[in-house]
Order: sequence, then C-alpha cells, then structure tokens
Amino acid sequence: MKMIDMVFKFAIFLSFGLLVSANADVYIVIMEGEPVITYRGGVGGFAATASESGEKIDITSETVKSYSLHLEKQHDALLEALFEAGTYKKLYSYHYLINGFAIHTSPEQAEALRWVPRVKYVEKDMKMKRLTTHTPKFLGLTTAVWPNDGGCNRAGEDIVIGFVDSGIYPEHPSFSTRHSAPYGPVPGYRGKCEIDPVTKWDYCNGKIVGAQHFAAAAIAAGQFNPAIDFASPLDGDGHGSHTASIAAGNNGIPVKLYGHEFGKASGMAPRARIAVYKALYRNFGGFVTDVVAAIEQAVKDGVDILSLSVGPNSPPTTTRTTFLNPFDATLLSAVKAGVFVAQAAGNGGPFPKTMVSYSPWIASVAAAVDDRQYKNYLTLGNGKILPGLGLSPASHGNRSFNLVAARDVVLDSSVLKYSPSDCQTPDVLNKNMVEGSILLCGYSFNFIVGSASVKKVSETAKRLGAVGFVLAVESVTPGTKFDPVPVGIPGIVITDVSKTMELVDYYNSSTKRDWIGRATHFRATGTIGDGLRPVLYMSAPQVALFSSRGPDVKDFSMQDADVLKPDILAPGSLIWAAWSPNGTDDPNYTGEGFAMVSGTSMAAPHIAGIAALIKQKHPRWSPAAIKSALMTSASTLDKVGRPLLAQQYSGTETLRIVKATPFDYGSGAVNPRAALDPGLILDAGYEDYVRFLCSTPGIDHREISNYTKVACNASSLQRPADLNSPSIAIAHLHGIQTFTRTLTNVAETETYVITSRMSPEVALEVEPPAMTLLPGASRKIYATLTVRSVTGSYSFGEILMKGSRGHKVRIPVVAMGFHR
Ligand SMILES: *[C@@H]1O[C@H](CO)[C@@H](O)[C@H](O)[C@H]1NC(C)=O
Ligand SMILES: *[C@@H]1O[C@H](CO)[C@@H](O)[C@H](O)[C@H]1NC(C)=O
Ligand SMILES: *[C@@H]1O[C@H](CO)[C@@H](O)[C@H](O)[C@H]1NC(C)=O
Ligand SMILES: *[C@@H]1O[C@H](CO)[C@@H](O)[C@H](O)[C@H]1NC(C)=O
Ligand SMILES: *[C@@H]1O[C@H](CO)[C@@H](O)[C@H](O)[C@H]1NC(C)=O
Ligand SMILES: *[C@@H]1O[C@H](CO)[C@@H](O)[C@H](O)[C@H]1NC(C)=O
Repeated sequence: MKMIDMVFKFAIFLSFGLLVSANADVYIVIMEGEPVITYRGGVGGFAATASESGEKIDITSETVKSYSLHLEKQHDALLEALFEAGTYKKLYSYHYLINGFAIHTSPEQAEALRWVPRVKYVEKDMKMKRLTTHTPKFLGLTTAVWPNDGGCNRAGEDIVIGFVDSGIYPEHPSFSTRHSAPYGPVPGYRGKCEIDPVTKWDYCNGKIVGAQHFAAAAIAAGQFNPAIDFASPLDGDGHGSHTASIAAGNNGIPVKLYGHEFGKASGMAPRARIAVYKALYRNFGGFVTDVVAAIEQAVKDGVDILSLSVGPNSPPTTTRTTFLNPFDATLLSAVKAGVFVAQAAGNGGPFPKTMVSYSPWIASVAAAVDDRQYKNYLTLGNGKILPGLGLSPASHGNRSFNLVAARDVVLDSSVLKYSPSDCQTPDVLNKNMVEGSILLCGYSFNFIVGSASVKKVSETAKRLGAVGFVLAVESVTPGTKFDPVPVGIPGIVITDVSKTMELVDYYNSSTKRDWIGRATHFRATGTIGDGLRPVLYMSAPQVALFSSRGPDVKDFSMQDADVLKPDILAPGSLIWAAWSPNGTDDPNYTGEGFAMVSGTSMAAPHIAGIAALIKQKHPRWSPAAIKSALMTSASTLDKVGRPLLAQQYSGTETLRIVKATPFDYGSGAVNPRAALDPGLILDAGYEDYVRFLCSTPGIDHREISNYTKVACNASSLQRPADLNSPSIAIAHLHGIQTFTRTLTNVAETETYVITSRMSPEVALEVEPPAMTLLPGASRKIYATLTVRSVTGSYSFGEILMKGSRGHKVRIPVVAMGFHR
C-alpha cells in the first residue's frame, strides 16, 4: 500500500515539478544525421556503425557507444542552446533506428524547432491503440510441425520475440519455468529486466528474458495512473500477457476458469523467449513516442522478432506518405537490423481501406474466425428453444426452474436509478424471491460502455442464490458484437432481439400479478443447456468481420498503394490465452488468469510465433525471406477445401458471408508446416525498400533521404510494384505492363511448372512456363498484365508454381484496369 502511494507521489512530483507550460504537448523530432543502424562513417571522426543488411550490430562496441553518445549530446546541446532550462523536457533520445528525440514542450517552442536547419521533421505525438487454446492444433502445429523439430520442447528454442504491448503477468503458468527444461542464456540478446517497485519481482526467469516499460510520454501527457497502469512491466490490462502467450506461452497449460477446464493453451513457439517492452496502458492505449522508444530498445537488445498488436488511431496527417510515418520508418530500420515484424492489420473491418499497417517491410496480419464456436440454448416451459451465447454448465440435471425477472424483485423503488434490471449488484434485489430460480436480467447500454459486465451478472445471481441467469438483449445498436463470456454458474445471453421478445411474451403471460402490477406468482420456467463444449465448425477459417481490409493506402488522401495489404490471415477470434489478474480493462475478465478475446491483436502473435519456428530452422533468413515463406505457402482454401469466405455486413446489419478476396486475407490463411519448407523464396532487403519508396509516385525524395539517408537515383527508378515482394498489387493498370519477380530455391533441385489465373477483365500471362532451379539458385519470372475491360473495380488472380518435389508457391495478384 505504502509503496503504491510513493509511486503515485513521485508521478505527481514529476508533472508539477516542471515549468513546462500548461498547454505543452509531446512532439517527436527527427534530426539530420544518420542513426547507428545506417551510419557509414565520416562524421566528426566517428567510425562507421552500420552493418550489412540483416546483420545484428554489436551495440557493446566502442564505435557504437561513442556514436550513440555523440548523437545524444547533439540533441541536448541543440535544446540547451535554443530553450531555457525547465521550459521543456526531453523524454527520449532516439539514436539507434532513427536519429531524433521526443520532447514535452509548448506548441511555440515546437514550432521554433521546425526552423532549425538540422531538424528534419517535427510532429505532435499521436495516440496508438491496441488492436484488440486450441489454435496450435487447428493450425496443424502439434501434429505436423513441432515433432519434426524436437516437439514442443524445442519449438522456438533460442529465438527471442519482443512484444511492444501492455506488459506481462510474470507469475502466469504460461510463462513459468517450473516444469520446463532449464533455459540457458540466449546468444546475442542483451535486454534487461526491471525489478518491480512494489512486489520486488524480478520479471526475468529464463523464459522471460527482458522486461522494461516506456511511459515518459504517457506521464507527460498526464494520462498515466500508476495505481492501475503500474510503473513497471506488470500488465495492468491483460492484452500483453494474452499476446505473449499466443506467440510463446508454455505448451499444455490448462485453461481453467470457475472450476471448468476449457482445453489446454499453448503458444505457437512454446520454447521461444519473451522480451517485454511495455508501452501500452489501460484506457488510452499508448503514444507513438513511447512505442518508438520501446521498438528502439527491443532492436538494440537484439530481439529476433517483433510482435506488434498496436497501430495508429488513424493514418498520419503530416507525412505525405503512410510509409514514412515515424512508426513505419522506425520499423524499416528494425527490418534493416534483421528483425522480422508482425503487426496487427487493424480492427476497422469490414470496410475497405481500414488497414493501420501500411508498409511492405511489415507482415500485416488479418484475423480469422477459427473452427470453434460456443453456442447454447434456453428451453422454455412452453417448449420453445431460444438460442444464445453461454459459456457455462447446464442448469442442474436438466430440470426446469422458475424464471424471475430482476425488475419484478426490486427491493425498494427508490433504487431504480441504479437500473436494477441489469443485475450489477445483488443489494437491490430481493433474495427470498430469487433463490432457487433463474434470474432474468436485461442487457443495457452500460454493457457497451463497459460499466456493466456479464461477470457481475453471474456474481449477482450467485449471491442471491439463483440457480442461473438469463441476460436478454432487447435492443441493439448496429455493430454490437457479442462474445461468449465464461461464467461460474449456468447462464446464457440471448442476443437475438426477436428471441428476447418471445421470452418476454412467455414470461409476461405466465407471471401472475396483483392489481398494482406486482408479480405474485412466477410460473414461467426454463432450462439452460450445457454451453461448455465448443461446436466445431466446417467452414473455417473465415475472415472475421472486424478484421481491417485493403486496399492499402499510400498517403493521407487515401490513394491506393501498389502494395497488397493485409499480407496474411491467422486466427484472431475468440482466442483463449493468458490474462493478467491485475488487468482491469475488460470487466468480463477482471481478476482472471485466462480470457477469450478477439482482435487482429490476437492474430499478429500467431504469425510472430510461427516466424520464430521458421527463424529457428533457418537462422540466416532475412525478414523478407521469412515473410515470403509465410505468404507463398498460405492457403486460400478452408479446412474442407472450399475457397475462403469473409464475414461482411449486409444492408440490414446482419452478418453476411461472402467469398473472400486478397484484400481480406492477403495471400491466405497461414499454413505453418508449409511455411517451414516453402521451396522458393522472394527475398528483398533494405536497399530494395528504399528503391520502392523512391519509386512511389508523389513522394518527396527529400522526405526519403531525411529518414533513410539514401539518395534516390533518377536512373534506378522503377515502379513500386517492382519490389520483389510475394504479391503483386497494381492500383492503376494501363494497357500492358510486365512485372518481374526473382525466386530463390531454398530446397533441393526442383522443377516448377508455372501457371496463372485472373478474373477476365485483366489478362495475366507468366513466363517461363517451367523452370528448374539448383539449390540456392535464383531465377526471374515475368508476369504480364493486360487490361481487357475497364470496370472500375479490382480483378484478382494468382501465379502458381508447382514443384516436382511437392512445393506449392503462390503469389496473389490484384490489379485495377484504367485504360486499354
Ligand atoms: C440433459 O439433456 C441432454 C439433452 O437432452 C442430455 O444429453 C444430457 O445427458 C442431460 N443431462 C442430464 C444431467 O440429465
Ligand atoms: C462483456 O461481454 C458482453 C457479452 O458478450 C459484451 O456485450 C460486452 O461488450 C463485454 N464487455 C467488454 C468490455 O468487452
Ligand atoms: C411485460 O410486462 C411488463 C410489466 O407488466 C410491461 O412493462 C411490459 O411492457 C410487458 N411486455 C410485453 C412485451 O408484453
Ligand atoms: C497483481 O495480482 C496478483 C494476483 O491477484 C496480486 O497478488 C498482486 O498483489 C497484484 N499486484 C499489484 C501491483 O496490484
Ligand atoms: C527534408 O530535409 C530537407 C533539408 O535537407 C528539408 O528542406 C525538407 O523540408 C525535409 N523534408 C521533409 C518532407 O521532411
Ligand atoms: C544510388 O546510386 C548509388 C551509387 O550507384 C547507390 O549506392 C545507391 O544505393 C543508389 N540508390 C538507390 C535508391 O538506388
């Protein structure tokens, strides 16, 4: 208690101890001069620090240390020369991936910075948001992938996955080392673990190898509350523990809530190490400057993979191109350092152009509904059966119990202001009348804003001695999403308004009332079915309704980019994984150790974990090669071999299932087994991404050189779609155009037969029709696209390479014809 108090006072001291003006904001400032990752020497006598693309830099070397210090001193000298002490606070110096700093200061001083010759770019900080088991088995990991690599005991060994998220609950069984073979030190990783200021926990345990928190911007903005956000890596939300356990949680951890086991949870790479970089907080999400600081630290520490379940609230407003916002620019440097980045696509679906992950160097992950659904039924005394959601046991022995509506048992009409019918507290209801019955509650707006929860309904029913509860939805705002919530006593949520009406009619006609309308005899009865067993569902995976959709946009005017996004589809709906009991964000799971939640946030760590398996098997592969392996081997068919479907809204706001396109799933649903042995890869490196940027129409070349320090050459300019990526996207196809892709054989000698198909408005022809590649050899293929008819919409197709040894390599193609 005392310690929490002190932390709180410390924070207040920080924000009041400064003279920074009241209207101060946090700004990110980018400086001229190269960061460590690209510095090639020649400035002020400092030796080069840059490495070959993809090589880790030795950050302990004297040259790196002295150059970093040099940049940091420059930042401080600049600020000291310009501003009076105390009128600003430098929050971070960035010197590893980008050269710049974060500063808390007045808008006037920020404006003044813009005019300083060595300052390239000043932008007000933006907020970022979280893009809020059974899956390893569904993905075929347990039977097809792990055993080949020494089983789950070795899956992901020595690979470090960095999580920029809301922290971790280190005591969770998913992260415990009590029952695992000892973990040695990880070669090449040198992150550190903070010691918890309150509990004195050391977050490091061998499995967790790094744990730090970044909150300078959140504190400066006055949004950080140490009592619930915790000034430590402790997860005050749940989200961070969830994503970490999806990628790298221990294998076979029983998911237990309320005495029921909902199966066993496992990470994709259960032996991978976890490095936590907390930069997201409970209510507000996070700030770009904190997130960028976290990413810098992660890359500097030497993580192999970054899992990012975070994205901007909206496309950036001040950079002309989406690809060079400070976040994506930092990630470009991370990829240069050899780090594979998986980022959540966003939860803005099902509408087009809702991606918050833009750049080709990032793997942007869409979310799928997998094959498990929880359904339940309420059987009424009149024989009607009402479907609903209920993750609970059945009411005892299939017996019928009286239904008692909360509004009929309110103790005192003066409490009506507490809206007693949503059953959030037992104190206002008459226990004598509810005991032994099923309590009938109403779903109100309070559930949508988060001040009411299903968990509290179940607690109320339990406290009143009810045998169960029904939560009935009488009206819904369009787009309301209902997820089954596990509860400790029989319970069901009736989400279909017409079914609620049937229930209310039956209840009203069966309940006897006195002359002033008070209920005297409850004669309506009901039975709640068993909702604990999942229904396995054939048409899976399916693109989830909320998953953000392409096309990708290249600038703030929302012009389509020649980049296919999302890149890949992974499970992201109703995912069971670890939760932090200290998390207070989702009232349905407060205090629990597991939660079942949905979002592209849950899809990204699936890809991060599978990438760890690929990296383990192929340690020298570049981030682009790993991304290529994941994409070219992905499947466009569901588990029974039919084309993938996507959830969409119909005109009447009910769910509609339509045939999915690459704008829903990128190259398709991840297939881990095939991704570990893709046959061919399409590789690309830092210089290729810079050339891609240089060729992007409308981009300011100075903007590129300000970030990448590479000059665009007029002669080397190609088209953005010439980037050697495992997809082809052409937003404006004119007449006939040919695109090249270079494929490298990463298997034995193999002969590939190349075919293609495309919807008829655009013709797609690929040369050569067949090729034989020796191990390690590369070959070019040429894809020629011809506009046949102009329709104003995209055409979809694919290039398929079938190898004589069984490899299948697929490249999705999307194009919109402009004129013939
Ligand atoms: C309840 O009813 C279901 C379906 O009629 C049946 O399968 C189940 O065994 C019953 N349970 C008990 C405890 O009687
Ligand atoms: C809790 O669950 C209910 C039922 O699915 C849902 O309507 C509500 O939005 C959930 N609360 C939160 C904060 O997610
Ligand atoms: C059911 O009865 C209650 C209380 O008498 C009344 O307020 C409500 O309108 C009735 N609903 C229906 C659908 O008849
Ligand atoms: C976090 O939750 C655990 C388990 O409920 C509890 O023991 C611990 O005191 C909590 N930590 C803080 C800082 O609230
Ligand atoms: C890039 O740097 C140049 C000076 O080298 C500056 O004039 C220009 O405004 C910067 N451009 C952008 C888009 O930041
Ligand atoms: C421009 O040309 C130089 C010298 O040939 C080369 O080093 C550099 O990588 C080129 N830049 C781009 C973007 O192609």
